Amino acid sequence: MSPPNADTLTTSNGTPVTDNASSLTVGANGPVLLQDFHLIDKLAHFDRERIPERVVHAKGAGAHGYLEVTHDISHLTTAKFLNGIGKKTPAFVRFSTVGGEMGSADTARDPRGFAVKFYTEEGNCDFVMNNTPVFFIRDSIKFPDFIHTQKRDPRTNLKDPNVFWDFLANNPESIHQVTILFSDRGTPASYRKMDGFYGHTLKLVDSEGKFKYVKFHFTTEQGKENLTVEEAGKLAGENPDFLTQDLFDHIEKGEYPAWKVSIQVMEPEDKDKMPFDIFDITKVWSKKQYPLHPVARFVLNKNPDNYFCEVEQSAFSPSHIVPGIDVTPDKMLQGRLFSYPDTHRHRLGPNYLQLPINRPVVPVVNHQRGGFMAFNNPGGRPNYPDSNLEDAPPKSLEQNNPKKVVTHGAEKVYGITGNYPAPIKEDIDFYQAGELWKLLSDKDKDHLVHNIAGHLGSCKESIRSLQIKHFKRAHPDYGSRVEEAIAKANSN
Ligand code: HEM
Repeated sequence: MSPPNADTLTTSNGTPVTDNASSLTVGANGPVLLQDFHLIDKLAHFDRERIPERVVHAKGAGAHGYLEVTHDISHLTTAKFLNGIGKKTPAFVRFSTVGGEMGSADTARDPRGFAVKFYTEEGNCDFVMNNTPVFFIRDSIKFPDFIHTQKRDPRTNLKDPNVFWDFLANNPESIHQVTILFSDRGTPASYRKMDGFYGHTLKLVDSEGKFKYVKFHFTTEQGKENLTVEEAGKLAGENPDFLTQDLFDHIEKGEYPAWKVSIQVMEPEDKDKMPFDIFDITKVWSKKQYPLHPVARFVLNKNPDNYFCEVEQSAFSPSHIVPGIDVTPDKMLQGRLFSYPDTHRHRLGPNYLQLPINRPVVPVVNHQRGGFMAFNNPGGRPNYPDSNLEDAPPKSLEQNNPKKVVTHGAEKVYGITGNYPAPIKEDIDFYQAGELWKLLSDKDKDHLVHNIAGHLGSCKESIRSLQIKHFKRAHPDYGSRVEEAIAKANSN
């Protein structure tokens, strides 16, 4: 077949377009003919250009890059992409805000998403992270409710600070994340100048199936930089795509951003000695007790060629993991393992993993077939496992290896079924927010108080006073200063 002539406009079935400016009509002023395939196809395709935006993290920017292993952790994990100093694995990242729509401002106060897809030799491994090490809640059953309070009111279609703070005040396990969000870390000056945190506790698993608990950290090499609330507000009006542009322009100029990747490692025996549940994502592990061990360097060095195909159609999930990395009983993580592929099937269709940006670099060999938009419909072999026919179907790892293959860290789990609420019963839920307050510089404390007062100050008294009680429980100065700042602002 001769290659297409890129100079000639074609219909979507590849035939040359005769006229792209006038439709096929009966006479100069006559009605349009249904036989004008190009017109119908052009209009019909345009009518279907939009896909559902992400239900959260709708506004984002992406880039290609790689992970390079810098330190040996072969004693901790069999994951091949984390083994072998100097080993490089291609990667794709998508940074995002959380609550806003696709066209919303990049500088809104929000956590930032930091989702990475590693195209490894053992299949794709996704790290779906944020720029904060903790989260607002610790059970996925609260996630839809929490997100509803950050989105628009169903009647007015407006954002409402009363709803925003009402949820947080009634779910004070959020206090740690609220303290980070309302510091200037809630308005980073650049996607390049913020850290990434896996947040959840994971397991790294060795070749014998022994595991350690770990937390992954991505630390920016560009230096951290945040905006003040005033700067962020101004930029939201002047250039709502400020962070998107900053990332694109720097990569285009060859100034490639990079992050140091490291892990905190905890022995399984420590789990029950900790003063809090190590699977609770509202808590961090002390770096003094669990120091960071360097693992790798993460570099971004190429802009996407096509925003829609690469950034919009990218689909990350914490359930996309490779042997040597395993999940934990974290109630948030467990909910996320279901939610991401579920939303991808809705947003992109059941064959979303066959799209070029999402498909693994290794062959995908299974018995899935059909569904909308299937590119890869394996044929020529039996379409079921365990056949004795000549051209046998693929087998599982265990069937192919006489020796038992260990891919996950087996853990003993037992208990009585039930709904176990995690009420705010102990000071431990406020302790880390208080410690964070104590660590802040005077300037950062001023900004935190100013940022909270500007938002919480417009809420109803009942919500305000409950939330101030939580700030006081984290640290008396923290609460009193917020209280005074609101009283002062409201008396003017
Ligand atoms: C995006 C659900 C918590 C980080 C999303 C999406 C859903 C979702 C449905 C849209 C995905 C898409 O359309 O492709 C949930 C649920 C959570 C949760 C149910 C809690 C139970 C978290 C946490 C983090 C996080 C704790 C970070 C540690 C992200 C990121 C994205 C995202 C970075 C954007 C991914 C991208 O760029 O495509 N989440 N999420 N989420 N979530 Fe979560």
